[in-house]
Amino acid sequence: MPLTHRHLLQIEGLHPPEIDTMLDLAESYALLNRSGKTQRDLLRGRTLINLFFEDSTRTRTSFELAGKRLGADVINMSVSTSSVNKGETLLDTAATLNAMNCDLLVVRHGDSGAPALLARKVDAAVINAGDGMHEHPTQALLDALTIRRRRGRLEGLTVAICGDVLHSRVARSNIFLLSAMGSRVRVIGPPTLMPTEIERLGVEVFHDMREGLRDCDIVMMLRLQKERMTRGLIPSFREFFRFYGLDAEKLACAKPDALVMHPGPMNRGVEIASDVADDPVRSLIKEQVEMGVAVRMAVLDILARRSSRND
Ligand code: NCD
Repeated sequence: MPLTHRHLLQIEGLHPPEIDTMLDLAESYALLNRSGKTQRDLLRGRTLINLFFEDSTRTRTSFELAGKRLGADVINMSVSTSSVNKGETLLDTAATLNAMNCDLLVVRHGDSGAPALLARKVDAAVINAGDGMHEHPTQALLDALTIRRRRGRLEGLTVAICGDVLHSRVARSNIFLLSAMGSRVRVIGPPTLMPTEIERLGVEVFHDMREGLRDCDIVMMLRLQKERMTRGLIPSFREFFRFYGLDAEKLACAKPDALVMHPGPMNRGVEIASDVADDPVRSLIKEQVEMGVAVRMAVLDILARRSSRND
């Protein structure tokens, strides 16, 4: 089923066949990448701008690599928002980018809704690379692809999303995607890091990690978003690790073959112990990074085809 949207702003509202279409294409790009081949004709002559108002290493580089592997001209723009009025900057930037005739615009911004605002102002296809505490759709797609490759399916799996759920756009996008695809989703964390009424999204809430991990197939850890914490929401990092950090002992509460994920960047010893993060059998963290490139190639491919049809 073809994706009917012009932009990729969020997972919420996408239908399972649309998600499957993206994952299937990403799977073929994962195989292509492993074979060492490229598809440089696909986006030849197209321009991709990476517009990052917030720091990023892996997301920015993987969009850059994805664009280059498909033959696009890729430009990276990092914008500091420290001293200027954010709204004004965003609209000024939109006008500038529009004048440059860019085809694909990848946006990361500290404010929820910024990519959607840009999408209304530019002709390019806009991809949300993380907006505030709202969504990070390509992260959820790459997580889903990683799980699907290992487990062969998403349906019927029990996935625990653990830690700083409150500030996490990764958690929100994953909740929407995994629920739509028939996984059972649990969220685990202290009450201070849990959004109010999160149950409305159809998840089960646990404050006791050992209890929440019982019978889980996948344990997805989140980074503590210190930069988004305006007040003391946890007593200390040591205390947080004791109750909510994933170590071998807590992981033993999940299924014996449960797999571990983390979107990165990791705070080792705060939300995850190094021996668990680096476990070659249980940890999927490196594979998540690899699948990130494949998923972004698929998304760029689909959106570029759509925009060329609109030309
Ligand atoms: C995530 C993000 O930026 O939302 N990181 C990422 O994209 N790899 C998660 C995080 O920063 O904690």
